[in-house]
Amino acid sequence: MYVCLCKAVTDKTIKQKVAEGVSSMRELKMCTGVGSQCGKCTCQAQQILHNELVQL
Ligand code: FES
Repeated sequence: MYVCLCKAVTDKTIKQKVAEGVSSMRELKMCTGVGSQCGKCTCQAQQILHNELVQL
């Protein structure tokens, strides 16, 4: 499922990035570009990031 349409970032990509060591929205933004255009996806991306981090 696409989380960020502007940058074509999927929930799978976010999960993959967390597995690779990404632990903050800033890092996620830097490596995927998520939330860097219209910003509409930020909230959902943050939620997915958080959900993944609590599972670690
Ligand atoms: Fe992610 Fe626009 S949908 S920046």
